Amino acid sequence: MQLNRRQWLKTTALAGGFTLFNGLTGIQKLTAEEIKKFNPRELKSPIRLSSNENPYGPSERVRNAVKNAFDEGCRYPYAYANELEKLLAQKHGVDPESIIITGGSTEGLKIAGITFTADGGEIIAAKPTFLAMMQYAEMWGAKINWVPVDENMGYDLEEIEKRISSETKMIFICNPNNPTATLLSADTLIDFCNSVSKRAVVFSDEAYYEYIEDPNYPSMVDLVKKGENVVVSKTFSKVFGMAGMRIGYLIAKPELARIIRRNIVAMSNVYAIEGAKEALLDHEFPQFSIQKNKEAKSIIYNTLDHLELPYIKSNTNFVFFKSGKNINELGAQMLEKGISIGRAFPPFYDWCRISTGTLEETKLFSQNLISLY
Ligand SMILES: Cc1ncc(COP(=O)(O)O)c(C=O)c1O
Repeated sequence: MQLNRRQWLKTTALAGGFTLFNGLTGIQKLTAEEIKKFNPRELKSPIRLSSNENPYGPSERVRNAVKNAFDEGCRYPYAYANELEKLLAQKHGVDPESIIITGGSTEGLKIAGITFTADGGEIIAAKPTFLAMMQYAEMWGAKINWVPVDENMGYDLEEIEKRISSETKMIFICNPNNPTATLLSADTLIDFCNSVSKRAVVFSDEAYYEYIEDPNYPSMVDLVKKGENVVVSKTFSKVFGMAGMRIGYLIAKPELARIIRRNIVAMSNVYAIEGAKEALLDHEFPQFSIQKNKEAKSIIYNTLDHLELPYIKSNTNFVFFKSGKNINELGAQMLEKGISIGRAFPPFYDWCRISTGTLEETKLFSQNLISLY
């Protein structure tokens, strides 16, 4: 269903403290030029703030690259993937053999998990975190050793290290973490990876790396380059806004990459690969995405401050906040208002994960949230 903007504002926004809300935020409007260049979409119901997508993508340049690739649709994607591997190898300063292109980074997480646990053993992971690797590995017989996040919702690396045993095949570190949006201090993470990768493979999920606010924050690719047992995942779904196109990649030293690559099932496709190649050349669109994400987060922060609801400063494109309401009830209430929010993340049933939308979508979220308190 598509509502026109006026109907939408009448049915949802005006109900919920519109005047109050306008006083809360100095929201910048997109300039006409930005609108032309970055294609902000029409509002559609429900507004999807549930899956940490980037609503501005794919960029105009990626769209054109995909259109120009139509003729290649009759070809298998392998040669195209090899070209992308070379570009990614250059970007990260690794050997092309170290790059594994996958159908979204989700495929990378799944195949890396089963590569190391299919013959038994366990994965250590934080709770809560992004579940794709652990859910899949469990289906193939792996055990998962869950380590609760600490009182600040950050990683409890000390406890993780204590739990490492001969059974431990992989340690999954999602940094920044989903859903908590927390970031480990760089030194702590590097020390941890250096030390524990001697005993088990460390997997560093860097889906939200580009949103980290410290411009000098290191990628764990540095440790891959040093030959450590570290595997890194990256994605085109977030800052490049290509979630529906399904393309991501892993970076690992060639010996590890070779055995992980054997488990690929889906891989990607010519259109996503050609789009990704263009995306890598475009520095403007990711910067634009990062800027709009910051603006949307400040709308959310202002709203939560106004409502006096606790939240965690985010290094991602979503915010985790304590709504004080059961997440399933809050989800139903917000959906009634046309806004889809994040699911439950046990054991934090009175917390909510909200993804940044366009500024317009984020404003509507805020207005409607305010109306519930
Ligand atoms: C931490 C994390 N890793 C990986 C993914 C998967 O992304 P994709 O499969 O689209 O690359 C997500 C998706 O939200 C995520 O939050």
